[in-house]
Order: sequence, then C-alpha cells, then structure tokens
Amino acid sequence: MLDFAIRLATNAGKFLNDHLHDDITIEHKGRIDLVTNMDCRIQTGIVKEIERAWPGHSILAEEDCAKQGDTEYTWIIDPIDGTTNFIHHIPFFCVSIAVTKSGQPFIGVCYNPISGDLFHAQAGQGAYQNGRKIFVSSTEKLLDSLVATGFPYMQENLDAIIARFSCVLSRAQGIRRLGSAELDLCYVAAGAFDAFWEEGLKPWDMAAGVAILKEAGGMVTSLDGSPFDLYRGDILASNTKVHHELSRCM
Ligand code: IPD
Ligand code: CA
Ligand code: CA
Repeated sequence: MLDFAIRLATNAGKFLNDHLHDDITIEHKGRIDLVTNMDCRIQTGIVKEIERAWPGHSILAEEDCAKQGDTEYTWIIDPIDGTTNFIHHIPFFCVSIAVTKSGQPFIGVCYNPISGDLFHAQAGQGAYQNGRKIFVSSTEKLLDSLVATGFPYMQENLDAIIARFSCVLSRAQGIRRLGSAELDLCYVAAGAFDAFWEEGLKPWDMAAGVAILKEAGGMVTSLDGSPFDLYRGDILASNTKVHHELSRCM
C-alpha cells in the first residue's frame, strides 16, 4: 500500500511539473479559496487508481469525489496542497496522499514535484525524506524555535488568529507562513521547523503530514491541548519539547 501511494503521488507530481506552464483554469470555491483544473484532473486520476486497486477502501478527497464508507482503511487525498502557491508559481506545494487505519494515521506521502522532495511514513516504520530517515529537532525553548503557521480561508475568527500570532512572534525565533500545511508538517518532521499551528484545516490538509510527523517523533494535539482530531480542523504540532511552551499562546 505504501509503495502504491508513493507511486501515485510521484506520478501525479510529475504530471503537474510537466504542465506547470500550461494555461490553467481557476475557479473560486470561496472568497479566496481557489481550485484549478489541475487539482481536479490529478485527483480524478488518483481516485480512479485507488478504486481499481483497493475497491473495498473508503476515499476522502478534497475536490468533491468522496467515496465515504465505514471501512478499515480510508484514503485521504489532497491533489495539490498549496493551490495558491501553485497558481502563483511559488515552488511550495505538494501532492498529498494518506491512509488511515481504523481512523488512525497509517500511511503518509507528500511529494513536492518542484524541489523533488518526497516525504513518506508508515506507522511503526519511521519517517523518510528522499529515502533518508528523519527526526524532529531537539530544540528545547520557544526562543530558539522556528515555527510555521497558516491562515484559514474562513476569516471570521481573525482577532484570535492575530492574538496567537502576536504571542508566538514575541516569544519565538521566527515565524514562517509558506502556504502548504502538509509540507509545514513534513518540515517539522524533518527538524527544519520546530513547530506548526493552524486552525480551519480539513483532513486532507493534515492527514499525510501527521502520519509522517508522528513517525519522526513529533507530537500533535488540538490547539487547546486536547487529543488531536483530524476532523476538527485545528492542530498544534511540534518536536514535543516546545509543545507546552507554545501551547500557552494558543
Ligand atoms: C491550504 C494550504 C495552506 C493552509 C490552508 C489550506 P489548499 O490547502 O494547506 O497552507 O493555510 O488552510 O487550505 O487549499 O492549498 O489545498
Ligand atoms: Ca490543502
Ligand atoms: Ca488542495
């Protein structure tokens, strides 16, 4: 299943790379929530292949072709995580494929076709970047931490978002907003970022990254410190050591 997921993500990424300079069609799903014909085309291809290879599994995919069900395995797909970057030719987006087993993270694969970075993990087998085993950082203090975040498309909660941002900004080494939640999580897993937080996310923005981060020794909770729920939308992810200090800003 892992090899299959890696093959799907890398093939889809290569297709994206080959069509980077084609004319793309952009539609609005919300005021600033965009989707392109590439998102749909890639997702359709991925879903078709999963249905053919694993007919008994459920599929949850961003662009409206879910095959929901109460099965042991669920595939969770974001054909392009970082669509706004993709549209603007900013080379930070990925094809993201995850599998949960009985609701728990089981497999995660994120492939950035521009940098060629391939992150993958399977429960109990470690996390890898381009075949090299990765681990979270050993940073202990927020003041020494580089922290990533993102801003939701739905902006009715701006005051709380800005309050958290301002709290972290005044206590951490720095904050980055790169525009792909999945890759943000992968970079925490690889020890490049020490932590990440965001709210208003969907399962396909986090499922693969969470599987990878957990295997790299990271910690994931909800913003309020309660157990992480993939379907709730908020996430506080870290190398574990700075989790408590960062949680005070949430
Ligand atoms: C988005 C990215 C972004 C995050 C947004 C997500 P999309 O996913 O992960 O970093 O801040 O909240 O929705 O729309 O590019 O698939
Ligand atoms: Ca996404
Ligand atoms: Ca997407």
